[in-house]
Amino acid sequence: DWNMPDYIAEAVESIRKQVGSDEVILGLSGGVDSSVAAALIHRAIGDQLTCVFVDHGLLRLDEGKMVMEMFAENLGVKVIHVDASAQFMGHLAGVTDPEAKRKIIGREFVEVFQVESAKLKNAKWLAQGTIYPDVIESAGKGKNAAHTIKSHHNVGGLPETLNLQLLEPLRELFKDEVRKLGVALGLPHSMVYRHPFPGPGLGVRILGEVKKEFADLLRRADAIFIEELRNTKDDADESWYDKTSQAFAVFLPVKSVGVMGDGRTYEYVVALRAVQTQDFMTAHWAHLPHELLGRVSNRIINEVRGINRVVYDISGKPPATIEWE
Ligand code: XMP
Repeated sequence: DWNMPDYIAEAVESIRKQVGSDEVILGLSGGVDSSVAAALIHRAIGDQLTCVFVDHGLLRLDEGKMVMEMFAENLGVKVIHVDASAQFMGHLAGVTDPEAKRKIIGREFVEVFQVESAKLKNAKWLAQGTIYPDVIESAGKGKNAAHTIKSHHNVGGLPETLNLQLLEPLRELFKDEVRKLGVALGLPHSMVYRHPFPGPGLGVRILGEVKKEFADLLRRADAIFIEELRNTKDDADESWYDKTSQAFAVFLPVKSVGVMGDGRTYEYVVALRAVQTQDFMTAHWAHLPHELLGRVSNRIINEVRGINRVVYDISGKPPATIEWE
């Protein structure tokens, strides 16, 4: 166990020593790790840090706005906000295979990041929010490569192509330590304790071909689900959001018949997924209260025109995975 103010002071000192007066680039994703790394490095070297936030059009509702508010406005961090959604949608058009979609998103991400970082001519360092479990995991990658079920992308492979040195100030920390550090650095509790969000984003939660229209519907349905989960504080001040490890909506490009007012509808389906897990290798579906599920379903169908049916995923991992693709 470590003392937080001392830890921050030491980490700040060591980052300053390492980079001197050089400039540093960091890819901000809105996730916990890259956010805490950004806050820590900014504390150490201020304006020598530039963050690049790539919006691939597959982020959650208002994600870009939240990142810009938190970092650029509140903390005064230099953030370049790249709206690359048209580029990503263009490359994803017509592609339905899950692995092909993941590869395209990963490749375009590296592409956009490279173009943006090439504009920062003085940058010598690439900062990443690599944490201790990532270090262990990638050490075992060689041996287990044949067993890859889904190709995860986390901006790996960037340093080689960019010719930058790596700065990874969270390398020795476990997730819970990263979270404590984030809170101590002034990041909001709600962001530091967020559920994980995959790099390919809504790209793996829209089954089959990704379309902007689908992403827009899914974003709104997902935001309703998360809002309702957060609005269920019990006596211990714990909500169902806190009690689940990951929860999200999935867009099914399937139309079914419904009725609204006097009219027949023929619209898309949204599936809700909520799981409890320690390590994300195995997971149980969460036994959410029926009233909560009912409220979420009513709100999604009433508020998101284009969705007329909501279902709940009651599959464990294994045999199902947490994400649907
Ligand atoms: P699955 O669906 O394999 O997911 O049960 C296990 C955990 O991994 C997350 N996930 C990803 N995270 N890049 C990431 O950073 C990815 O490509 C990716 N794919 C899945 C998933 O959200 C869950 O937490």
